[in-house]
Amino acid sequence: MKRRAQAAFAKDPLNPIAPMGAPSPDQDIAALRRNYQRASLRSVDLDADPVEQFRRWLQQAIAADLQEATAMVLSTFDGKRPSSRTVLLKAFDQRGFVFFTNYGSRKAQDIAAQANVSLLFPWYGLERQVAIMGPAERISTAESLAYFSSRPFGSRLGAWVSQQSEVISSRHILEMKWQEIQRRFANGEVPLPEFWGGFRVAPIEFEFWQGRENRLNDRFRYRPQKDSNHEQTWCIERLSP
Ligand SMILES: Cc1cc2nc3c(=O)[nH]c(=O)nc-3n(C[C@H](O)[C@H](O)[C@H](O)COP(=O)(O)O)c2cc1C
Repeated sequence: MKRRAQAAFAKDPLNPIAPMGAPSPDQDIAALRRNYQRASLRSVDLDADPVEQFRRWLQQAIAADLQEATAMVLSTFDGKRPSSRTVLLKAFDQRGFVFFTNYGSRKAQDIAAQANVSLLFPWYGLERQVAIMGPAERISTAESLAYFSSRPFGSRLGAWVSQQSEVISSRHILEMKWQEIQRRFANGEVPLPEFWGGFRVAPIEFEFWQGRENRLNDRFRYRPQKDSNHEQTWCIERLSP
């Protein structure tokens, strides 16, 4: 029985053969563990501005050639249930963190019901994660258009094809729609769909996490505070792992 399961794993085209020395798929997952030793995070290392701290870590994630360094897990809440999915960060600055999606999707409906969301960057290759919390808001049509126009032709067409999060009876329906959209925009001009665009998450809290030996991980939280001149700054606190 066990041998048959392993053979199925090796033959499955969706499961590339595991690299040499990789754990067997039958291994006890409770025994899989790694001691985090790559780096440390001290308060003196931190930028006073969390957006700059994020920029520094993102640059390191890109330089380390992590797969999908800009991918983040977006969690939303519809008032009854939470849900999470991956989206790609496309821009960020002091105003917030921008991703693009279908405005009719489940995530967009959740945001309409409850604007507060969380973003999580899982940079496992660097034994790091960054969590960001804050309200999400639609960006302007002009901003969405600027990004949409920069996308490859196929991605612009793809935005028109999918009624994201809706039930469809088969993949065939999707492929028929793709053919139809290709004919419709055969002249190469693909307008911005009115149901597609960006959201910006305006951060009200950040947490930077660095794995350390024996699970004595480094965690720092940034929360907004006013300084003595009533200017907004960030309060930085170390959290227990
Ligand atoms: C690596 C990766 C990147 C993704 N990027 C996006 C994205 O930028 N925007 C998007 O709408 N969906 C993206 N998706 C698909 C979403 O995870 C999700 O399936 C889709 O947005 C529908 O989510 P919803 O039904 O919860 O709204 C991505 C998925 C993966 C795995």
